[in-house]
This record gives sequence, C-alpha cells and structure tokens, in this order.
Amino acid sequence: MDRLVIEGGYRLHGEVTVSGAKNAALPIMTAALLAETPSIIHNVPDLRDTRMMAEVLRALGAKVEFENSTLKVDPSTFSITEAPYDMVRKMRASVYVLAPMVTRLGEARVSLPGGCAIGARPIDLHLRGLESLGADVKLEHGYIVARNEKMQGGEVLLTGPNGSSVGATANTLMMAVLTPGTTTIRGAAKEPEIIDLVGYLKAMGAQIDGAGTSTLKIEGVSKLKGVKYSIIPDRIEAGTFFAAAAITEGDCRVHGAKLDQLESVIDKMGEMGVYISAENGSVRVACDGPPRAASFRTLPYPGFPTDMQAQFMALLCLADGQSVITETIYPDRFIHVSEFVRMGAKVTLSPGQAIVQGVPKLSGAPVMASDLRASAALVVAGLAADGVTDIHRVYHIDRGYERIEEKLQGLGANIRRVQTPRPVMD
Ligand code: EPZ
Repeated sequence: MDRLVIEGGYRLHGEVTVSGAKNAALPIMTAALLAETPSIIHNVPDLRDTRMMAEVLRALGAKVEFENSTLKVDPSTFSITEAPYDMVRKMRASVYVLAPMVTRLGEARVSLPGGCAIGARPIDLHLRGLESLGADVKLEHGYIVARNEKMQGGEVLLTGPNGSSVGATANTLMMAVLTPGTTTIRGAAKEPEIIDLVGYLKAMGAQIDGAGTSTLKIEGVSKLKGVKYSIIPDRIEAGTFFAAAAITEGDCRVHGAKLDQLESVIDKMGEMGVYISAENGSVRVACDGPPRAASFRTLPYPGFPTDMQAQFMALLCLADGQSVITETIYPDRFIHVSEFVRMGAKVTLSPGQAIVQGVPKLSGAPVMASDLRASAALVVAGLAADGVTDIHRVYHIDRGYERIEEKLQGLGANIRRVQTPRPVMD
C-alpha cells in the first residue's frame, strides 16, 4: 500500500493544470449507457474511481476503451440488469447505473451502497425520484429492485434534510430523459457537475430546461444518440491547489480553474488575505504570510463546498486567530481533525462544528488518510509542516486526484510516493 512522504517547508511556485472533474465524469460515464450508439468523452481524469466506473460499465455488457483521458463507450451491448454489492460497496457512484438499467432495459437490481467514512449517506431521494416517475421500487435483501412497468413523467421534490442532493438530481434527471411526458424536478442541485451532465444529455438529444437552477424541466424522448463530449475541469482539485499554494506562502498559477465555479472558495481566500485573481486564463494564488482566521459553513452549490472543508481547515490551522467551521452537508465529516492534532494543530469539535485556533507551526508526523478529501488535506498540511509527514493509505487520494505528487513536484514540493509491498499473509 502506497504512502506519500512529504518534507515540508518548500514554497510552491510555478504552474499546474487541473484534470477533468471526477464528479462530472462519473454520472456522464453512466449516462453514455442511455444512448444506443457510442460516445467519445474527452478530458476524463485517470483515477481509481473512473477506472472502477469503466469496469462497472464493462460488467454491464458495454464495450469501454479508456486511454489518455479519452473514453469510448459503446452501449449497444449493454444488457446486464444487476449491479452487485461487491461493485457498489467499492464506489457509491455505481448507484447511477439505476437510471440506464430501468429506462433502457426495463428493470434493475442494484445493491444499496454501504457505509461511508464521511457520514450517513442515504439514497432515499434517489428512490423518491424513481417512484415519482412511476417505477415499481422495492428494497429486498440489501438491493434496490426496480421495474419499469409504465413509467411516466411527473413532479418530484428532491430536497433532503441537508438541502439538495447532487446524486439524486443526477439519477432522476437520467431517468427522466427517456421517460415519456414532462418531468419537473424541484429542489434540484445546481452544481457545475450537474450542468455538465445536462450539457452531455442535451448533446445526445435530450430536452432539458433549467440547468443551474433549482427547477429542472425534462421532456422525455424516445431515444438518444452517442456524441463526442469534453468534461469540465475539476473545481475541487483547483481549490486544493489554491490551499497548497497559500499554506506554503507560495505563488502559483492554476490552469483550467474556472473562477465562476469557485466564487465561494475565492471569496473566503480573499477574506483570509490570500491574493487570488484571474490572469491570462489561469488563476494566480499568492500568499506572503500566515493567513487571517476566517469562519465558514459548508452549503450546497453555490455555497462553500463540503469537499473543500478539510483542505481549508488545514490552512486555518496556521491562521492568525480563531476560525469556526460549520459542516452542514455531512455533520460528521471531521475525521481529519485527529490527524491534524497529531501534527500539533489546535481544533476542538462539537456536533457539526470545529473551532480552529491557529498555531505558529505544524510538525510533520506519520498520519492516516481516511477518505478522499481528508487525505488531500493531510497533503496540504504536510507541505507546510516542519519535518517529514508520512501519509498512509493514499489509495484514498488516488480515487480523486490524478498524479498528485507529480503535479506538486512540478510546483517545487518535496513529495514522493513510497510503494510498500503488501505484507505476505502466512
Ligand atoms: C456528491 O455526493 C459528491 N460525489 C460528493 O463528493 C460531495 O461531497 C457531495 O455530492 C456534496 O457536494 C459525487 O459527485 C460522486 P448528495 P452525493 O446526494 O451525490 C443527503 C468527493 O469527495 N442525501 O449531494 O452522494 C446526504 O446525506 C465526494 O468527491 C439524503 O439525505 O451527495 C448529504 O447530507 C465525497 N438522501 C446531502 O444530502 C439522498 O437520497 C448531500 O448529498 C441523497 C443525499
């Protein structure tokens, strides 16, 4: 199992380019199964998760080629209507196959996703979407069993206890495009990844209005055709590089970052005294001292993204003053805190909230990654810490960051990947 070993204290400088967005690529890869002819999708990041999704599509019968960030999906042989536990437990996004199975093959048997390190992640809203379109849905032996008897367009409200749901919006949208009649989704997610999914579906012939708003209107069509499409850049990867540049008091240019998708992140960085602005098609981030303390709460888009919470906490651990972080999307998403405390940070927790008292410096330590963004935050902290930080279980980071150590080395970081051979079990 690989580790990342970082010697901290190097100021980052230079240029880096972000890859395609994981959270747009995953639903778009399953949406390719809604068509009857092949799609060619460009700018697909080479990650554990996209490789796993390609495996999922192959296991359902589709032909998939994935090379050099280009994916070719031929759905003409898509025929399998079961997504087993072993597949879905490894990657929750596999639940997106529900839509093409039910609408194109008429039935689906998809394992319920298991638990998750970042907190409770029910899928009741996905099922609400399915039922609102008239599908017959049962839960049996840990599986969602759905049949498309006479699905018909309908009205559905997809707001949950913590606001809109990206996943339920994507799944219901993908179900509605091939369902006869008009479907109205209220309380829809407005994330850029949803807008990108709508862009792909419309390119294939779907009729959708309202992308980027909380109300989506879909007119069902009888079939879709495969197209060429290119995925948007990854705003969370971009935000992670912003935090890395700022915590090392560096000066970097991030290519591919879209300012309009990162307003809440950029506003917060400005408040913290970090210089950040668009220059020649890239975003320049520079910082020449410890950031100012700043408080924030995570919210659905366009609010502050929960997927940037841990990376910003790393930065605020070295801030001048006290910051309060309120996590409203995943109230338990604070596993990274104990590892920061091992590095000398001062963070106190209460339900859904963390109080961060800035300290003059962090010290390198052996730490354990627990989920994708927590591991990215440990990398950010390690870049600024005194001495060596040794991050274990980095397979978490490989789920969502393409060649992160190479990209950081390109910015002058002292980081390397160490392959630890798996222990031989007697
Ligand atoms: C997506 O997850 C992202 N994953 C997550 O990023 C991200 O944290 C999350 O959206 C929020 O922005 C992908 O796109 C693959 P949700 P998703 O449905 O779709 C509750 C990363 O690091 N909810 O928007 O699973 C839920 O518990 C990952 O890249 C219900 O109550 O998230 C949460 O509190 C981690 N019922 C809130 O809604 C449901 O049926 C938002 O969840 C569905 C969700």
